[in-house]
Amino acid sequence: MQSKLQTNPLLSFPIHRPRRMRRDAWSRRLMQENSVSAGDLIYPVFLLDGVGQSQSIPSMPGINCVSLDLLYAVAEECVALGIPVMALFPVIAPELKTPDGKEALNPAGLIPTAVRELKKRFPDLGIMTDVALDPYTSHGQDGLLTAEGHILNDETTAILVQQSLIQAEAGVDIVAPSDMMDGRIGKIREALEHKQLIHTRIMAYSAKYASAFYGPFRDAVGSGKNLGKADKKSYQMDSANTDEALREAALDISEGADMIMVKPGMPYLDVVRRVKDAFNYPTYAYQVSGEYAMLKAAAQNGWLEHDAVMMESLLAFKRAGADGVLTYFALEAARHIKTNS
Ligand code: PBG
Repeated sequence: MQSKLQTNPLLSFPIHRPRRMRRDAWSRRLMQENSVSAGDLIYPVFLLDGVGQSQSIPSMPGINCVSLDLLYAVAEECVALGIPVMALFPVIAPELKTPDGKEALNPAGLIPTAVRELKKRFPDLGIMTDVALDPYTSHGQDGLLTAEGHILNDETTAILVQQSLIQAEAGVDIVAPSDMMDGRIGKIREALEHKQLIHTRIMAYSAKYASAFYGPFRDAVGSGKNLGKADKKSYQMDSANTDEALREAALDISEGADMIMVKPGMPYLDVVRRVKDAFNYPTYAYQVSGEYAMLKAAAQNGWLEHDAVMMESLLAFKRAGADGVLTYFALEAARHIKTNS
């Protein structure tokens, strides 16, 4: 489409020269619409049992699963860099995994213990925990199974409520149900209120897609192997849909969520934008393990410039309307922001 102004035949010069504002760094800065700061980032970490344990994840270069004693240094760096929240994901020993995932309800288990210890040492660092059964189940699904292999919704929700209460009683700041069972946000909120746990925030994984980008995460927590050829399409959403994401977000908000999330991130920026525009609610995106793996692999091959694509990808979330991003790049990005500002 031609601009009338630019082509006005009476003028011998272009009235608008958008390049003027791009010419110098100071004027580019002056008209910058979006930015990424450490305060936008949530750092997901993988927690191992034991002491002095550290395991690399081959498909996630730079990320290690570590035991709690080693996680303290990570928490300290998050605080120093201004990252507001660390999100904990447990790596559960295979012998503790059962069909009903009952280790998720152990108040002395890996996650509740880590929450108590981290909040004691780092009271100003937000701690978020995953509410889901897949790290704990021997079949790798997020819920209880019928004999035919269907996921039971309400029975699973009842366990998720217990799991949330145990995490909240351990002092977690945010519970984040990532399971996609129907009605679980309302049930969790109701149970928290009954126990006077009125400060526990709920970040609902509202629009979580049945995505192939979770592969490296499933390697890390061992659910991929257990899942085998099975999929999660009966509870996670179809990648083809966006209206459905709005319905899911509407339900979670009406049931008492404080924050809503879209996951994965980069391939679903349209969903982030629609959800933000529709609800004007605190909205987050999860740049998942497979997205991280892609960028890392290309950077390691010298095909992409690491820091530049990292920051560009994070900026894309802000542009799409996200208030924050869960990203395995959080530490590196916050360090980058600090040294370059
Ligand atoms: C499961 C859960 C998954 C992730 C976070 N929570 C994987 C899954 O649904 O199988 C994936 C995160 C990532 O890929 O980084 N409750």
